[in-house]
Amino acid sequence: MERTLVLIKPDGLQRGLVGEIVGRFERKGLKLIGLRMLDVSRALAERHYQVHAGKHFYPGLVDFITAGPVAAVALEGPDAIATVRRMVGSTMPNEAEPGTIRGDLGISGLRNLIHASDAVETAASELAMWFEAEDLVDYGRAIDSWIVAEEPARS
Ligand SMILES: Nc1ncnc2c1ncn2[C@@H]1O[C@H](COP(=O)(O)OP(=O)(O)OP(=O)(O)O)[C@@H](O)[C@H]1O
Ligand SMILES: [Mg+2]
Repeated sequence: MERTLVLIKPDGLQRGLVGEIVGRFERKGLKLIGLRMLDVSRALAERHYQVHAGKHFYPGLVDFITAGPVAAVALEGPDAIATVRRMVGSTMPNEAEPGTIRGDLGISGLRNLIHASDAVETAASELAMWFEAEDLVDYGRAIDSWIVAEEPARS
């Protein structure tokens, strides 16, 4: 089971798309384990996008993610990191496939609505950046046996 971080960026929140986006993950079968809404400090934005520091789009990226409140969402599920990235789609909404969040709901460059962790290490460090450990809720779902199955054995 994996855990991953999603941020609904200021454009998604301003457009009233938090429910639509979180709903897609819920319907997929991913389990919500953390929800938080906040105004992002410059320090947190810079830490979150540290990997892009020095790139030409970095200042605009930090300005954008601090321009209004964001919703932080922690999700859990089998192969959750790659599954969520596939549901999010390519970075640029004009290139993202229909059926993905960016492909269906976005149209232009930086206005790509959502961030999702891209690997096991970044998911762990980003979850720790955006959530206190005690704010990630560990609970069972009665319906899980209908959603989460073991991989079929290969012969
Ligand atoms: N070439 C670029 N020009 C302008 N903005 C860019 C470019 N590449 C990335 N960005 C912006 O920086 C963000 C982080 O880039 P990254 O390569 O990590 O894409 P991503 O993983 O799809 O998006 P995110 O990290 O926000 O989930 C992107 O969401 C996008 O807004
Ligand atoms: Mg990224």
